[in-house]
Amino acid sequence: MITIKSEREIELMRASGAIVAAVLDMIGEKIRDGMTTLELDTMAEECIRDHGAVPSFLHYRPKGEPDVPPYPATLCVSLNEEVVHGVPSSKKIIREGDIVSVDCGAFKEGYHGDAARTYMIGDVPSEVMKLVAVTRECLERGIAQAVAGNRLHDISAAVEEHARAHGFSVIENMVGHGIGSELHEEPPVPNYGRRKTGVRLREGMALAIEPMIAMGRSRNAVARNGEWVAVTEDGKPSAHFEHTIIVRKDRAEIMTLSPASAG
Ligand code: MF3
Ligand code: CO
Repeated sequence: MITIKSEREIELMRASGAIVAAVLDMIGEKIRDGMTTLELDTMAEECIRDHGAVPSFLHYRPKGEPDVPPYPATLCVSLNEEVVHGVPSSKKIIREGDIVSVDCGAFKEGYHGDAARTYMIGDVPSEVMKLVAVTRECLERGIAQAVAGNRLHDISAAVEEHARAHGFSVIENMVGHGIGSELHEEPPVPNYGRRKTGVRLREGMALAIEPMIAMGRSRNAVARNGEWVAVTEDGKPSAHFEHTIIVRKDRAEIMTLSPASAG
């Protein structure tokens, strides 16, 4: 069942979303060559708790996957060919030329916010810069379709068409999701699909839209048994951006926008 959020619930989701945006802004200021991904995680957890929230991902258990241990961290930090779910580690060092997807969730007063950005560290090859820019645009184009009266796959198709127009591939086995009092709610939000199909979008639906776009030909992100991190099949880089949004009549309302860029 896809729930419709009341204005009161949306107010609470705005608060959770703002915390996630603050964490990602802070990460954007601090991230640099030589840092470990665990350092980022520690800063993020502190920031979330300072805001009176708790990390959404910490101890998360995926349904129906008993082999996978509960998620052990606050952030997912995924470097280069890692698509998603990179587990922060003191052994993983961020280097010049890397692209780093940082995914963060915060839970406060019963509601989650969830967002991700891909940061470029120093000089990055121009084709990789292009991948990051196009993935961000895929998210914007997806969000532009998240209006009442459209269909769910209008979002998916907008993402897919833009990625393919630039010769990039869409990761198909990882998807966005409904969000609210649970981190993952109905419906799944794929990054590929046909326009004018899927459920009708209604005002008050809350969605986490999260394109994962790869440079090579990989269509899936693969995880080794019992491991969280999922990588492209051909080892080529992949980028990831995510916002939590509310479907509205004329234009979606973004919950996880940073105050600096709001408006
Ligand atoms: N944004 C990702 C998602 O919504 C992050 C989930 S990490 C997990 O699926 F640990 F919570 F699974
Ligand atoms: Co998500």
